[in-house]
Amino acid sequence: MTPSAVQINRCCLVGNPRLYPEGVTHETLDAAAAPLPAEAIDAIERAATSAHRSAHPHEALFSERAANIKQSAVRDVFDISLRPGLVSLAGGSPYLQSLPLERLAATAANIIAKDGLTALQYGGGQGTEELRTQICEVMAAEGIVDALPQNVVITAGSQSAQDVATKVFCNPGDVVLVENPTYVGALNTFEAYQVEVATVEMDDDGLVPELLEARIAALQTAGKSVKLLYTIPNFNNPSGITLAAERRQQIVDICRKANILVLEDNPYGLLRYKGRPLAPLRAANPADVIYLGSFSKIFAPGLRIGWALVPEHLQRRYYLASESVTLCPPALNQMLVSAYLRDYDWKGQIETYRGLYAERCAAMLAALETHMPAGASWTSPEGGFFVWVTLPEGVDTYPLLKQAIDAGVVFIPGAAFTPSDQPSNKLRLAFSAVPPAAIGEGVRRLAGVLRESLAAL
Ligand SMILES: Cc1ncc(COP(=O)(O)O)c(C=O)c1O
Repeated sequence: MTPSAVQINRCCLVGNPRLYPEGVTHETLDAAAAPLPAEAIDAIERAATSAHRSAHPHEALFSERAANIKQSAVRDVFDISLRPGLVSLAGGSPYLQSLPLERLAATAANIIAKDGLTALQYGGGQGTEELRTQICEVMAAEGIVDALPQNVVITAGSQSAQDVATKVFCNPGDVVLVENPTYVGALNTFEAYQVEVATVEMDDDGLVPELLEARIAALQTAGKSVKLLYTIPNFNNPSGITLAAERRQQIVDICRKANILVLEDNPYGLLRYKGRPLAPLRAANPADVIYLGSFSKIFAPGLRIGWALVPEHLQRRYYLASESVTLCPPALNQMLVSAYLRDYDWKGQIETYRGLYAERCAAMLAALETHMPAGASWTSPEGGFFVWVTLPEGVDTYPLLKQAIDAGVVFIPGAAFTPSDQPSNKLRLAFSAVPPAAIGEGVRRLAGVLRESLAAL
């Protein structure tokens, strides 16, 4: 494919300005007119074919584990999305523009000037006591009021906390249960540890307890060793669905009965903009749930600071495994997060984020209502970053990605969020990093592509 094949036709855009709503600037149009760079074209091709392998003899040296790790379509799309001019509804990046950057810069400089010998030195493997204590306060705002700093392990983002949990509990061939759909980064982790991933369906209220119970029974009857239930109960990535209050205890009870640990991933929990807050699964179940948290969505993902709150009796193994990966979490970043939690209005910043994401979510839902073809449906999240669109049976959203890029919009095809290789009629749209006018424009472009594909069914 040549760059021109995915080039956006500027003449059409400029020739008919009425096609474009307010907020789409000349800059956007100019940027949209430029061809994609060669590496982005390559990435699209790779994402589409998933077969971009060289035959270097060193390939014979790969571990089975590494050979299992798939090319991530999401990473490819993420790279493409950085191209100015495309409306990216793909990446779930937080919108950092409202952070007090100059003040943060001064704080970071101050930390290095005053405590540089600590900030730039190795630190403890579990993370600083100050930050672990503050993390307990952050979790209290979520409804976990009994957390102790000694049971918190600070990690390089919650991605790393998932990795450590899998490493500590799973042998190759063990089973991890996940919601269908689920976070692609977790799927990649499970794949890397050669874990079998078993999906459990959700409805509008999240994971269905009866289906979970039946799935566990079937797997255990088949002699499988089921170790973990990985769940994102609040504003699931990618579906935006929230697990209903009345199901939460039921889910933990089912797992406890079957001796399965719950791995609760909650990076979006504080970003609720509708409905009432729900207590995390961990709140009433300190012995049965490993709780994963992160500063990526409520502060800044570039700092790579997340954590695990681990049941007391599992803490030592977990901490040792974490230490063996990173030696220690980055001291400077931990000190900056500590200063942020101590000296800044972090709860006020979360309020700002909530208002911002609520507005963007509303813009996306309104645009979907206006533009989507008949037969499409979508979720209506109460928080977080994502809307999940379902198209009629028979549509495969993966090949549509190329056409969408041609039309100037990027999304993530639904197949990325399940372990199966089956085509999917779903897709994920992220609204977090896109201003409302551009969301409207992106959905409009996407709707055109979908309409064509439905007409061809
Ligand atoms: C559900 C979920 N878990 C974990 C992560 C990774 O978070 P972190 O940046 O803390 O590694 C993400 C990031 O998008 C996510 O959506």
